[in-house]
Amino acid sequence: MRVLVIGGTRYFGKLVVQKFLSRGDEVSVLSRGNSQPDFWNNITHIEVDRDDAEAMAAALGKDEFDLVIDNIGFERSSVEISADLLRGRVGKYVVTSSVSVYGGIGHSETPWQKITPENHYLHHFTEPGIAHPIAEDSIELSKVEWELRAGINPYSEQKRQIERYLSETTELPFVVLRAPIVIGPSEYAGRFWWYLQRVLDGRGMALRNNGRAEIRLGFTEDIAEAIVAAALSNNTSGKTYNIGQTELLTLKSFVEKIGESCSVEPRIAGVSDDAVKRYPEIPWSDWRYEPFAWPFDVAMSIDRAEADFGLSSAPVAQRIRETIDWHMSADLKDSYGYEYRDIEAELFKVSAQ
Ligand SMILES: NC(=O)c1ccc[n+]([C@@H]2O[C@H](COP(=O)([O-])OP(=O)(O)OC[C@H]3O[C@@H](n4cnc5c(N)ncnc54)[C@H](OP(=O)(O)O)[C@@H]3O)[C@@H](O)[C@H]2O)c1
Repeated sequence: MRVLVIGGTRYFGKLVVQKFLSRGDEVSVLSRGNSQPDFWNNITHIEVDRDDAEAMAAALGKDEFDLVIDNIGFERSSVEISADLLRGRVGKYVVTSSVSVYGGIGHSETPWQKITPENHYLHHFTEPGIAHPIAEDSIELSKVEWELRAGINPYSEQKRQIERYLSETTELPFVVLRAPIVIGPSEYAGRFWWYLQRVLDGRGMALRNNGRAEIRLGFTEDIAEAIVAAALSNNTSGKTYNIGQTELLTLKSFVEKIGESCSVEPRIAGVSDDAVKRYPEIPWSDWRYEPFAWPFDVAMSIDRAEADFGLSSAPVAQRIRETIDWHMSADLKDSYGYEYRDIEAELFKVSAQ
C-alpha cells in the first residue's frame, strides 16, 4: 500500500511509520526534516511545512495514497490544507484526535471550578455526571463553534473544530481516532515520570480522591498499533473511535502496578480537598501536577473500536515494565513539582494518619 504519514518523526508517530514499513508498505513521511529517525533511508521524505498551502501543493504534486495518517493536526486550517489537496486521491484519511475533545477539568475549565448554570457552557460537550466510560457520540459536533472562546482550552477546541470540519466535509473518507493520554518509552511530557520518581523515592504519595480516578491510558506501542489497525480495517470509514488500553484502571491501581514492577511499596494515602487547600504552595491546578488525577478527562469507552477493528493491547503491567526500563536508562531531570517533595512528604504523613 502507498501510505503517507504527516508527522511521524517524534513519538508514537515514529512507531506508526515503523509498523507500516514492517508490513512492506511504501511509506512517505511529511515533516520539515528537523529530525531523521532510524528509518530515514527506508521512506520517501516530503519536506514541507504542512501549514504552508502553496508549498504543500507543490510538495504533494499529483501523488495518490491508499492511506494518509494525519498525526499532527492541531488546527482546522492545517487539516483543511492537506484534506483539500488530497481529496479524491486518498483511500482513507486517518486523523489523530484526543480525549481532550470531551472537555472537562483541565481542558475546558479550571481545575476545581464549581459548575454553575452560568458557566455550564464549559461542560456542554459532555454533561457533568455522564456515565463513564465516555462514548464517542457524547459530543454534539454541530455545536462546536469556529471562533475560539476565552476560558476554553484551545488545544481541545481546535481538535473539536477539526472533527467538526471532517464530519461536514465531502469526498474524504476520514477516520477520527481519539487517543487518551499517551505514555511509554520516550515520553516527553514527563507524566509517567511524575509517578515513577515518587514511587522510587519511597516518601509516599497523597493522591486526590484517594486515587479513585478512573483512567484509560494509552501506551505508545498499542496506540500506534490501533492507528494502523483502524487505517487498514474496512469498517472504519466516516467513523470516530476512542482508542486506548483495554484495561481500565484507577489511578491507585496504576501507581500500585508501578510499585509492583519496581518491587517498591508505593505508600499511597488519600488527600482531602481540605488538605489540598492547606498546602497552597503546591501547584494543584496545573495539569502537569499529579497529571492523572482528572477522572473526567481520561476514561473513554473503547467498545466501538473493539467491535469494528478489533482494538487490542498488551497487558498494562508489561507496558509499565517497558516504560520503567526506558525511564531508568534516560538521563531525566526531576519530575514536575518535585521541588515540593518535602511538603508532599509532610502531606502524606498527615493524610496517612
Ligand atoms: N501525547 C499525548 O498524550 C497525546 C494524547 C492524545 C493525542 N495526542 C496526539 O498525538 C499527536 C502527536 O503525535 P506524536 O507526538 O507521535 O507526533 P509525530 O507523528 O511523531 O509527529 C511529530 C513531528 O511532526 C513534525 N511537524 C511538526 N509540525 C510540523 C509542521 N508544521 N509541518 C510539518 N511537520 C511538522 C515534527 O518534525 P519536524 O520538526 O521535522 O517538522 C515532529 O517531529 C497529536 O495529534 C496529538 O494531539 C497526543
